[in-house]
Amino acid sequence: MTEPAGANWRDEPTDWEQQGKLPRTRPSVPQKALASLNITAASMDPGLLDLPWHLPLEEWPKDNLAALPRGISRHVVRFARMGDSLIAIKETSEHVARQEYHMLRKLRRLNVPSVEPVAVITGRYDADGQDLQPVLVTKHLRFSLPYRAVFSQTLRQVTLTRLIDAQALLLVRLHLAGFYWGDVSLSNTLFRRDAGAFAAYLVDAETGELYPELSRGQREYDLEIARVNIAGELMDLAEGGLIEDSVDPLDTSERIMKSYRNLWAELTEKESFELGERWRVNARIRRLNELGFDVDELTINTTADGSQVQLQPKVVDAGHHQRRLLRLTGLDAQENQARRLLNDMDSYRADNHPELDEELSAHLWVTQVFEPIVKSVPRELGSKLEQAEVVHEVLEHRWYMSEKENRNVPMAEAVQSYLNTVLRHRRDEAAILLSTDTRTMNILESGGAPE
Ligand SMILES: Nc1ncnc2c1ncn2[C@@H]1O[C@H](COP(=O)(O)OP(=O)(O)OP(=O)(O)O)[C@@H](O)[C@H]1O
Ligand SMILES: [Mg+2]
Repeated sequence: MTEPAGANWRDEPTDWEQQGKLPRTRPSVPQKALASLNITAASMDPGLLDLPWHLPLEEWPKDNLAALPRGISRHVVRFARMGDSLIAIKETSEHVARQEYHMLRKLRRLNVPSVEPVAVITGRYDADGQDLQPVLVTKHLRFSLPYRAVFSQTLRQVTLTRLIDAQALLLVRLHLAGFYWGDVSLSNTLFRRDAGAFAAYLVDAETGELYPELSRGQREYDLEIARVNIAGELMDLAEGGLIEDSVDPLDTSERIMKSYRNLWAELTEKESFELGERWRVNARIRRLNELGFDVDELTINTTADGSQVQLQPKVVDAGHHQRRLLRLTGLDAQENQARRLLNDMDSYRADNHPELDEELSAHLWVTQVFEPIVKSVPRELGSKLEQAEVVHEVLEHRWYMSEKENRNVPMAEAVQSYLNTVLRHRRDEAAILLSTDTRTMNILESGGAPE
């Protein structure tokens, strides 16, 4: 889609301009720069046209940019404000930008966690009519953290283990969808907090390829790339003193293999058992659900003499608990958060309204448990953590308090204690940081971790 030159510059001042928060000046854009811009996008956000595409990304004015933690990359990548949302912009070749854009669209359709593509922009020229590199634009993934920003000061072994487990689960999901990544690494992955663990998202699909199904060799090759890259990344951290002394980078990098293989086997392997052990069919389904996967089909064969049963599940989509939570409450959460919230919802029902059906009780839980917690978070603390993560942490906090004090701590008291002793002391992790935290940015850009 090619937009006419300057078509979108607003005639009416926006609310922000009227309130004097933004200067009301038409950006000075060289004519050639706008006339030649070519934008490929599934749906057009007019805000895209307001950005200074005629400048190399490295020279973009601060006002357009958002200072957020970013992983290490070969290309120039920046976060910019577009209307009320945030986008990530990567300067690269046209071929790579288009390929990655289309690949990310396919991955979204296949329902694997990845960043969302917005547009490819080519035909960029600077004021002197010199070519500028095309860009790939993606939506900034809210509350996501590059692995170097997950920890403050030093990365502990337990956190590292959780990161690697999340990365293994992502790789399994990609492989089940037929995606060969080719460049698996912690830097090409984004992490979101997920009820004490992490949920991993693919951020860099440049080298990826999709097949109807991956061979064992392809999967093993990807896994080997993951191990080598992770080992390298951990050695870098170790050299910079950013990792707990006791962590052995090579040993730890092996964990991705183990974690991946266990998960793959549980999800796909054939299981044989005696006819009398039929309960194992349901047990397997329950285990898969626990891991967050739904079962689409079960193939059950019996041996010729009828004494043995062979069972092979066909696993579909992860997100078993996410979907149940969404169906019951309309809340969108990560998988572990959803599991945690559903547990609370189930015990709420058992304690208060065992007679009510699941949906009605879920509705009551949202209005009497979830919403009051979310509403009690003061505005200034609202951008520290995602809502579902806050509710998870409050529930956890209440449980620990009750156990320590040996009494049933009321929810309101637990919430206050959590806000004052925990949340207030956390870093902001929301996407939209209105103030620029330059110190954190400098540390991140030089490859260190924020404090
Ligand atoms: N949509 C997004 N949301 C949040 N962060 C993003 C997004 N896109 C990119 N980033 C950040 O920018 C970093 C670099 O992006 P990316 O890996 O695509 O660049 P690259 O130059 O292709 O990397 P490589 O050196 O691996 O080729 C990522 O690690 C991530 O931290
Ligand atoms: Mg990358």
